Amino acid sequence: PLDHWDAAESAPGLDALVTAAGHIRNTDVPVGFPTETVYGLGADATRSGAVRGIFSVKGRPSDNPLIVHVCDLDMLRELCNTELPAIYRPLVEKFWPGPLTILLPVPEAAKYTLAPEVTAGLSTFGARLPASPLTRTLIRLADAPLAGPSANASTRPSPTTAQHVVDDLNGRIEVVLDGGACGVGVESTVVDGLCEPPVILRPGGISLADLRTVPGWEKVERAYHDVAHGGNAQKDDKAQAAEDTLKPRAPGMKYKHYSPKARVVLYEGGKTPVLSRDALIKDIEGAGQQASVVGVVRTSTWPKLTSSLEKTVTGLNGAAAPTSSTEDIDGVVYHLETYSLPSGPKVFELYLGRDLSSIAHGLFSALRDLDARGAEVILIEGIDDGGDDMAAAVMNRLRKAASEVR
Ligand code: TXA
Ligand code: MG
Repeated sequence: PLDHWDAAESAPGLDALVTAAGHIRNTDVPVGFPTETVYGLGADATRSGAVRGIFSVKGRPSDNPLIVHVCDLDMLRELCNTELPAIYRPLVEKFWPGPLTILLPVPEAAKYTLAPEVTAGLSTFGARLPASPLTRTLIRLADAPLAGPSANASTRPSPTTAQHVVDDLNGRIEVVLDGGACGVGVESTVVDGLCEPPVILRPGGISLADLRTVPGWEKVERAYHDVAHGGNAQKDDKAQAAEDTLKPRAPGMKYKHYSPKARVVLYEGGKTPVLSRDALIKDIEGAGQQASVVGVVRTSTWPKLTSSLEKTVTGLNGAAAPTSSTEDIDGVVYHLETYSLPSGPKVFELYLGRDLSSIAHGLFSALRDLDARGAEVILIEGIDDGGDDMAAAVMNRLRKAASEVR
């Protein structure tokens, strides 16, 4: 059984941290741990057996390297045996601890020596100093840098609550440290400052605009391609061609990812709300020909559903009126409308809020929640990622989860 601490009742105390740290030191079974971005699956980065445990628990391809989490700059120094390259100094000063991962050369043997499995044969490794004091204390107690991917089963949406980790990995791990719902909700930004100009390998919790405020980072560019990945389905020729020519430099970016069980249809975002009520109802009816439960995730328009929907839904034969509620799923709060269309499908339509941080915060939870409600198709209203903000991270995840983009 999982030792599972409920943050709502009590944040994990020192006992829980000591237990989790003991697992990291003494076993080859990784531990679920909270961070400000998503939950991680952690193991002692210096022991091969422990690191292999991560790959087997997750079902992760072994050519996909892991991020190494440290508790402070001293631990990073002891890992690298050198000072941080100058390009990174102002960057980490500004954003660490926080949702940023930097690539560093794989060091020679030092006080801590990385197991080769961590880096999947690359000459660099990703280093991150997470914001959560709980996590940093865990790493300090384990007295080892913590190799840790997101704690989802491979291809699933990343976990943003301890319950998500349990849902994916119960039976395969023994300890999840519950730090409540993750604040940011999407993973860290991965950057490479060892090349000129520096590049973003994965968009995340720190935006391009944020990075460009830092000396030496004014010209940072995107080095990821972001075409729809075709979650469970076919890629179109254009997507396949883009993928072939633009090999992503973060190996993980090439994999199917973030996918709920449901088929995801993504509407590309624009500056104005992309989905009118009428268009949406038409598409739900279309989806409803194959699915009896349809999920909808809305981001741009506050659904003043009850009045306009009531007309649509009850227009024929007085079907049941939509119900409306505010849901709190393990600390992720959103607005939910439930209704059935006269033509058949039952619909769960949820609204993540309009601002970027609440969209990012609720995104993965929403996908998992709609899965749990039995949605076979999820229609998602995308957001405009033309700016230099965190919308890039949200749309990157959604495009990879999507089977179809409209
Ligand atoms: O927010 C996060 O970064 C979370 C939390 C748990 O810290 N971790 C996370 O890890 O997202 P993971 O393994 O799910 O994603 C790591 C990404 C992958 O796309 C991987 O390919 C890339 O970072 N990466 C890691 N090391 C790399 C390296 N040396 N060179 C290029 N890409 C690397
Ligand atoms: Mg991941």
